[in-house]
Amino acid sequence: MCGIVGYVGDGQAAPFLLEGLTRLEYRGYDSAGIAVYDGEKIRIEKSVGRLSELKKKIEGNVPVGSTGIGHTRWATHGRPSDMNAHPHADCHGDFAVVHNGIIENYMTLKEDLIAKGHIFVSETDTEVLAHLLEEVYDGDFESSVRKVLSMVEGSYSLVFMSRRDPGMLICSKQDNPLVIGLGDGENFIASDIPAIINRTRRTYILSDGEIAVVKKDAIWVTNHAGEPITKKVFEVNWNAEAAEKGGYEHFMLKEIHEQPKAVRATLSSRLAKDDSAVVLDELKWNRGFLDSVNRIFIVACGTAYHAGLVGKYYIERMARIPVECDIASEFRYRAPIVDDHTLTIVISQSGETIDTLAALKEAKRLGSRTLAVTNVVGSSIARDADQVIYTWAGPEIAVASTKAYTTQLIVMLLIALYMAGIKETMPQKRIAELIRGAREIPTQIGKTLEDVDPIKTFAKQYGFNEDVFFIGRSLDYDVALEGALKLKEISYIHAEAYAAGELKHGTLALIVEGVPVIALATQKSVYEKTLSNIKEVKARDAVVIGIAAEGDTELKKYADHVIYVPEADEMLIPLLTVVPLQLLAYYAALTRGCDVDKPRNLAKSVTVE
Ligand code: AGP
Repeated sequence: MCGIVGYVGDGQAAPFLLEGLTRLEYRGYDSAGIAVYDGEKIRIEKSVGRLSELKKKIEGNVPVGSTGIGHTRWATHGRPSDMNAHPHADCHGDFAVVHNGIIENYMTLKEDLIAKGHIFVSETDTEVLAHLLEEVYDGDFESSVRKVLSMVEGSYSLVFMSRRDPGMLICSKQDNPLVIGLGDGENFIASDIPAIINRTRRTYILSDGEIAVVKKDAIWVTNHAGEPITKKVFEVNWNAEAAEKGGYEHFMLKEIHEQPKAVRATLSSRLAKDDSAVVLDELKWNRGFLDSVNRIFIVACGTAYHAGLVGKYYIERMARIPVECDIASEFRYRAPIVDDHTLTIVISQSGETIDTLAALKEAKRLGSRTLAVTNVVGSSIARDADQVIYTWAGPEIAVASTKAYTTQLIVMLLIALYMAGIKETMPQKRIAELIRGAREIPTQIGKTLEDVDPIKTFAKQYGFNEDVFFIGRSLDYDVALEGALKLKEISYIHAEAYAAGELKHGTLALIVEGVPVIALATQKSVYEKTLSNIKEVKARDAVVIGIAAEGDTELKKYADHVIYVPEADEMLIPLLTVVPLQLLAYYAALTRGCDVDKPRNLAKSVTVE
């Protein structure tokens, strides 16, 4: 989604702005722009398309100046165009602004401003911010911005610059992320840490409602009432290299291969040495607390939602507490039955997904206790939830989520085992068995990644099919959903996942000769049933690619090909079966020449509704 950068310092602004925006490219965007104060005026340059278009446009004539802002836009109000790209300015070019989010009352404000004589040039909601500042500006930049913010409704992270106040940027946020990078004789602003990580690891993470005035040698933060706020420096504990490709062709492939490390890190120090228990110091729950919880909601979007489905299965099976798993954008509007006996677990890699954040706020409003599972320390979701468990996956850059998913599964497993230990709903022996099994998972994922040639071959063979079906039962179905999403989002192949038993209630009509069906068959309790479903699709001449555990001798009798993953407990095997599905999606996307890391229309962090 949109990216924001800002620079004020002794150096040149434009090189940082372009570099920072490049590092935010993974978020997805359709146009880009920068504004730099050149000593006389604010020079704005923008272009629809990739950043390379903007760079081409200003080649040999890069804006000169040491205060600037930049933006990559993902269209919401108005189509992608040069005009609609940010930064936006007021009528006289005195102010420029970049903005992520949506100004919900922009139409009313715009009509009012037009009536007062302001001339608008774009279709965006953002442009009202610049004109509004022009309208209320009284010579005091900071108090004027405060006034503007008091008039707008909606979600935002934004940065203003002013020709009348050189060497100063003012930024603020509401429901959208914003960080300030602390440099030496220079300071940076960004919507996301990767934009500044090459320059500094010392940051201030802004909270909702905070307004920061950023100069090259001073920063002060206040709330909307103008009261000062003391910020703690947050040291980023990963480096620029972690956010780079490290020799892989794509971030997605790198991140798939990072899964053993990410899962190991997420498990580390959370398992008792003797395998007797899960240690979650973050939670410190007791029997009294868990007995008071009569219902759990797991709320998330996309891949995180799929991890939630597995979480539901784990918690119900192990801790025997009823769990509902909900899509965040549905949960928040469906008047869910939530009270103070409810625990709401939200899962979000980025910690910034607006629907998940809003669902979290709604759950809190209704009296629920809340727990966030997220990958980003200091993210909005991490800060809003009562408690947090981090997945230690490291930065995930590719739009398609991979290592975040596997680490989310691990965290859900840990939570379920932790609950089961406290509630004594599972024999101790079984808890220890699963902990030992979990310890093996990183190595087993590594093994799954060793021989990718058959997967490459299938991707080439079936990569041009228009429809692919994924089937499975129980946990296999949950993984099938994730496999189908991966294939859709990066290869643009129409893919659907079905609970295998549901096929003959409609979907079987679509199964004709040559249609690829990817069938997961790892769950013992429903194994025979799954085989029957596979036979049904085979009888319609589908091409079946089976996914099974090593040692399975049956599936190959019915499937055209079988991909084997190491043998593991059926509770844990989703952590392995998802890997070939991620790779299949990756190689299918390559076969079709798709932009793997930045699939069309999608953004890494979805910060608009
Ligand atoms: C996954 O591949 C997606 N691109 C997407 O579904 C993602 O998981 C979803 O938008 C939620 O993001 P979050 O985990 O950052 O909240």
